[in-house]
Amino acid sequence: MMTELEKQLIEYFEWFHAHPELSYEEYETTVKIREILMSAGVEILPYDLETGLVAIIRGKKEGPVQALRCDIDALPILEETGLSYASKHNGRMHACGHDFHIVAGIGCALLLQEQKAELAGTVKIIFQPAEESSLGALKILETDAMAEVDRVWGIHADPTNEAGVLGIREGYVTAAVDRFVIRIKGVGCHGAHPDDGIDPIPAATAMVQAFQTIVTRNINAFHPSLISVTRIEAGNTWNVIPETAELEGTVRTMDAEDRILFEKRMREIAEQTARAYGAQTEFEWIAGPPATYNDAGMAKECMRVAQKQGLRVVPEESSLGGDDFAFFEEKIPGCYIKIGTGKGPTIHQPGFQIDEQVILPTVNYLAALFCE
Ligand code: NI
Repeated sequence: MMTELEKQLIEYFEWFHAHPELSYEEYETTVKIREILMSAGVEILPYDLETGLVAIIRGKKEGPVQALRCDIDALPILEETGLSYASKHNGRMHACGHDFHIVAGIGCALLLQEQKAELAGTVKIIFQPAEESSLGALKILETDAMAEVDRVWGIHADPTNEAGVLGIREGYVTAAVDRFVIRIKGVGCHGAHPDDGIDPIPAATAMVQAFQTIVTRNINAFHPSLISVTRIEAGNTWNVIPETAELEGTVRTMDAEDRILFEKRMREIAEQTARAYGAQTEFEWIAGPPATYNDAGMAKECMRVAQKQGLRVVPEESSLGGDDFAFFEEKIPGCYIKIGTGKGPTIHQPGFQIDEQVILPTVNYLAALFCE
């Protein structure tokens, strides 16, 4: 039998799923979260956030200040699930399960609000904008929301596991996410007379090859890292050697020193390769979030609570994906829990969906995590 709370949470979930909004545009989403929480008497902190909000539940007993991060944005993907509550916003979709994170946060807030008398300590539920931009966490960090927080928890939907299965590991979970853009400037000329110019294309392709050796020749072989050149652009016709070429891509590292080394080696290779080919170069490094790291004590604790709640815990594999949750962990010990949401298409795919049966157990689990 479905309880009243479960029915309500599923209704909310379907609403959020049908109304996805992109990073920094989560206006309707924020209004809806605010409405639901306020009608249940949950306190919302008076921050001047454009989108997103922070709710707070102040327990009547002494205890730590903890936070739960729930990201709220969607992706520019055309939904192909065929669900009755599919996206009403054409070309936008909750394809990363953040609709589920929203409802998990709301449900947890509602339960804790009811259990205030027994709650030891304070819980802040962070409804964070723009996770997909990699930088939305910084909006929350511009407020003092995290100032007195002792521990921060994060959750993420996981379609590689069934409902009722949690993936938890100690240590590194996701990678630091950095982006690079390299502009190579040569001298354009006729395709039949390369000797009249400086062709930027051989310099660009030499860089693409050489960058891969950073992983195999410079980084400790036991440290995960990678580089993907994902865009290469030069020229616009068949018989003209272009003046410029551009490369763009991403670097993923776990170790903070590897991250510094990677950038340094890339700069050296880019500059010196360009020089070897007689070209000039401009190197831009756009730093994203660092790696997420699960505090060992917190990981053990959330495994213990999971087992008590009858959930199955499996060792989570680390990934070179990223999450801006890591920005919170630069200041506060944290733990990021993967929640099995039913096996199916992976996140960021048009067929991705959440098994609704996972909603209530997740809410009960999160509330228990704060109450024990
Ligand atoms: Ni996500």
